[in-house]
Amino acid sequence: MLRSTAVRLFSTLSLHGSIAATAAASGSRLGASSSRWTKRQQSDPYVHQALEDGYRCRSAYKLKQLDDKFHFLRTPAGQAAASKRATASTATAAQPVVVRSGLVVIDCGARPGGWTQVAVERVGKDFRDLLLRHSNETKQSSGTPPMAGAQQNEAHIDKEEQAQLKPNATNASSIATSNGAANAPPSPPLSPLVLAVDIEPMERVPGAIVLPQADMTATRTHNQLAAILGTRLVDVVLSDMAPPASGNAGVTHLQCVNLIEAALRFATRFLRIDGWFVCKSFHGTEDQLLTTTLRRHFREVHFCKPPATRTESGEFYYVCEGFVGR
Ligand SMILES: C[S@@+](CC[C@H](N)C(=O)[O-])C[C@H]1O[C@@H](n2cnc3c(N)ncnc32)[C@H](O)[C@@H]1O
Repeated sequence: MLRSTAVRLFSTLSLHGSIAATAAASGSRLGASSSRWTKRQQSDPYVHQALEDGYRCRSAYKLKQLDDKFHFLRTPAGQAAASKRATASTATAAQPVVVRSGLVVIDCGARPGGWTQVAVERVGKDFRDLLLRHSNETKQSSGTPPMAGAQQNEAHIDKEEQAQLKPNATNASSIATSNGAANAPPSPPLSPLVLAVDIEPMERVPGAIVLPQADMTATRTHNQLAAILGTRLVDVVLSDMAPPASGNAGVTHLQCVNLIEAALRFATRFLRIDGWFVCKSFHGTEDQLLTTTLRRHFREVHFCKPPATRTESGEFYYVCEGFVGR
């Protein structure tokens, strides 16, 4: 990993002095920037859309756009149905598995909760599809003809789903290998699990487990998450973590790399083989080193700036596909 980042980060911060103190000393500059912020919010179509759609913030659309492109908020079977690209990548997976579970997603830096809302929505939809497939498989293995279409199953699925969608932290591993007993009816899929973590206080999000005031750079937080996960592995680690605004691009970059390293440390401990890691970054001196590190752990590393990212923002996302191990 990038061991020297923290040292360099510390010296860069010392070099630039206390940014907060500087900002406080220039009240008039702050006034001007806050009125610029208000104007920008008022004219931003994603801000309006978020209000209309019931999302807590505009960044919900960044996750939607990333997932629309890469389909990481779906089980491999769901991905295969969603895209030919995903079908090809699933076929070449390092460890072929049949996933018999809703997805397990960890959302790092989740406040106010836009990404968490989208994750809950999408893994819920994926899980309904999974239940439908399971229901048809069960009927096939017991000799009953499979359902012709989704609608005939709707009432049953809704009830079952309500029970299953409750986050269940005590379930066994999310992955079943494909060499189970040939004629045994498939065991019911495990419920999805969305865990949201933020260093700041955060309101609960229906359908997710929220861990507020938890620092992702602390091993203690990783252990807390491990206790909730039980024996389940994680399918997707998301990190939209960002440091407080410093106004200095170099400092922001280094702080962000520190946060990515923390999320990656968690991911390399708890991701299932072939899982996904999606994180926010800002361009800077550590880009090359970080990319090399990510390429060591993932089959493919994509760079993406979703349309909802503001053009003037230096942020972009790494979308890392196919965890290959530590
Ligand atoms: C851009 S916001 C995330 C927005 C979120 N994705 C959403 O859609 O609502 C970045 C968040 O990262 C959090 N953060 C920064 N450092 C963190 C850390 N060390 N551990 C956990 N969260 C952190 C901040 O508190 C902040 O809420």
